[in-house]
Amino acid sequence: MPTAPPVADTAPRAGPRPGHGVPPRGAGFTKYLVPEVVFGWGALSEAGWAARRLGAQRPFVVTDAGLAEAGWEAELAGHLAEAGLRATVWRGLTPNPKDHEVAAGTEAYLASGCDVIVGLGGGSVIDAAKAIAVVASNGGRILDYEGVDKVTAAIPPTLMCPSTAGTGADVSQFAVITDTTRRLKATLIGRALVPDISITDPRLLGTMPDDLAAATGLDALTHGIEAFVSRASGPLTDVHALHAVELISGSLQRTLRDRDDDAARTGMAQASLEAGLAFTNAILGATHAMSHQVGGLLDLPHGVVNGVLLPHVIRFNARSAPDRFVPVARAMGIDVTGVPGDVAAELAAEAVARLAADLGVPRGLAQLGVRESDIDTLATTTLGDACLSTNPRDADRADVAALFRAAL
Ligand SMILES: [Fe+2]
Repeated sequence: MPTAPPVADTAPRAGPRPGHGVPPRGAGFTKYLVPEVVFGWGALSEAGWAARRLGAQRPFVVTDAGLAEAGWEAELAGHLAEAGLRATVWRGLTPNPKDHEVAAGTEAYLASGCDVIVGLGGGSVIDAAKAIAVVASNGGRILDYEGVDKVTAAIPPTLMCPSTAGTGADVSQFAVITDTTRRLKATLIGRALVPDISITDPRLLGTMPDDLAAATGLDALTHGIEAFVSRASGPLTDVHALHAVELISGSLQRTLRDRDDDAARTGMAQASLEAGLAFTNAILGATHAMSHQVGGLLDLPHGVVNGVLLPHVIRFNARSAPDRFVPVARAMGIDVTGVPGDVAAELAAEAVARLAADLGVPRGLAQLGVRESDIDTLATTTLGDACLSTNPRDADRADVAALFRAAL
């Protein structure tokens, strides 16, 4: 077994020994955590009343310069004002939010006298908004809460409005923060991190640059596939995971070809949401465990790294869970009638690689700046990532190093 901590509070539990590792898929029972979800074209207009439902008097909006430039920050402030709320806005973030940025945001939040945290942006913004809520109420540094269920005191109410179709952070119990000292991404998991309300308005996706749309779409695809084959998957997550894969396969490239294809954009917004509902409950796998390490080392777009790694991880996992890849391949639009699982897995891996290449993702990690000499460290830190514990096939240090080498 990997050395990652067991996903004690989220995985299916087998019989009378809850919390003792992750049992095989299908054993025991599952738990399903989900925020209040508001979804649909124009849904951002609900933000003021949603914040009111959370008891807001003074909302603290975490966002970034891109959202301000696109006009969404002003629109959100307008909707909050309609509900009688005047927001304090904080934009001190860079992509892949850093530990010291969370510390600065926490200071700003505490100094503001605000009472509800609103995240408006992509996964980086939403993860940072969660992290600020954690440190503001629990004290210390955000890295003190790395791992599973380390947040013990209640955090301020949170309302999240995603502007990309990929991360699922607006519904998930995850936050990923860059540890700038160890140069890796620290993963925090736990029910405290599930936002109270998630508002998905597909209009917001229309101002994403193409490279961000491609990267976040690949991230959502990875969430759907990893959640479906996860050891902690169950019937409630399977339906969302597979539907997300199907929606992405039918919509992602359409949104990039035609910015006015509102149906495709709505499909991607729903896919991101459904993949989020799946992976927050089924957790992820080796692609994410490995990707977090590469992202921490080189500050790269998370979805791009996933796009490179995922085909290799699918081939690796096909040895343990071949039959799970038949529905995955079918959801991707591949005819798998009479096709055995290992072949379906190979076809799915090839389809993911083809999609990533069409979207402009490099063929290997070397083109992203990873060197052979980095693999040792990357493999070691991957073993400590909580996402590895739900990968369907056990992976030791040598396996992970071989996967990095194959993806180089
Ligand atoms: Fe992801």
